[in-house]
Amino acid sequence: MKPEISSKLPKLGTTIFTVMSQLATETGAINLSQGFPSFDPPDALIDRINWHLHNGANQYAPMPGTPSLRMAIAEKTERLQRRKLDVDTEVTVCTGATEGLFSAITAIVRTGDEVIILDPAYDSYEPAIDLAGGITRRVPLKIDENGSDFHPDWQRLSDTLSDKTRLIILNFPHNPTGAILTAEDLDQLAELVRDRNCYLLSDEVYEHIVFDGEPHRSLASHDELWQRSMVICSFGKTFHATGWKLGYCAAPAHLTAEFRKVHQFTTFSVSTPMQHGIADFLASDPGFYESLPAFYQQKRDRFCELLAPSRFKFQPARSTFFQILDYSDISDEIDESLAKRWTREIGVASIPLTVFCETPFTGTRLRFCFAKDDGTLEKAAGILCEL
Ligand SMILES: Cc1ncc(COP(=O)(O)O)c(C=O)c1O
Repeated sequence: MKPEISSKLPKLGTTIFTVMSQLATETGAINLSQGFPSFDPPDALIDRINWHLHNGANQYAPMPGTPSLRMAIAEKTERLQRRKLDVDTEVTVCTGATEGLFSAITAIVRTGDEVIILDPAYDSYEPAIDLAGGITRRVPLKIDENGSDFHPDWQRLSDTLSDKTRLIILNFPHNPTGAILTAEDLDQLAELVRDRNCYLLSDEVYEHIVFDGEPHRSLASHDELWQRSMVICSFGKTFHATGWKLGYCAAPAHLTAEFRKVHQFTTFSVSTPMQHGIADFLASDPGFYESLPAFYQQKRDRFCELLAPSRFKFQPARSTFFQILDYSDISDEIDESLAKRWTREIGVASIPLTVFCETPFTGTRLRFCFAKDDGTLEKAAGILCEL
């Protein structure tokens, strides 16, 4: 007799990022769908990793991460967010943000707990909540009157909070909309959760890609929020190295202790030479991540300038390496079907927004990744301007 599989995730298909990237490869389309840069990590960083590969750093790293990398993360966090982390009890290196998010959700969410996520929501959150036995409550971001800017809707979030709310997952700088948090947003969030038995999981993988002189306001920067927060970051985004799958979780000791209970059996520890190499690079060139806003802002500006004559409506992204384009003057087709058709027919792949939402409130909008060389952006924009 063949045992019958009763899926633990019956509704789940293949992630849209894989679907669109595969379609782009099959059709030879310019792939502005999945978020990965078309350029390499800095040479000095690759050299340091290479050096450690040749000099014995090839066995298990300590479960929470190498002391040198945890120290470098703590220095960076203190420098940028004025939060002094205890390297022994408050920092854990993980296998990309994806593992960090999964371990955090698994550690905190129990059967029947409610978890609030903000739509459009990155697609790894809900399956992890499902596997933990939690119940997802989705709160849409608010779109401003011009239809071009997205903000957290604190009133709706407040209306959705209940005694069962165990966790709120935030993602600012926000993928895909580029929304960022203001200082008032942090205070408002603090007020909402003050008397509640509820934790915060903050996905901050685009922490270093915020434009127009705005700072990134981490939950780690806010004394009151920090007490109940787990902050997840990714070196994949910071070093143009999404394939390396390296990230970290910063959280107060009591939360880190629970996080590590899961992390140690999800992955145990993370690539040793990578950790040593990144630690060396962060110590020798702390300015690299500080150059990222200008680097990506120049790409954003170039892409927007190229698209100015097009029929798309847009507001330049405020953060991340994604530009949202509203195609309502070109077509009224549903975004998912249009993104697939355009990949096949015009040769530019993008990501539809409604797949990240419970209700299709984002309407006629697609996400385009501008972490590409200028030639690729020019070619893609040329095609989009003909629509
Ligand atoms: C919002 C968000 N969270 C998490 C991740 C996953 O990061 P990592 O590749 O480090 O696992 C991504 C990657 O695109 C992302 O955009």
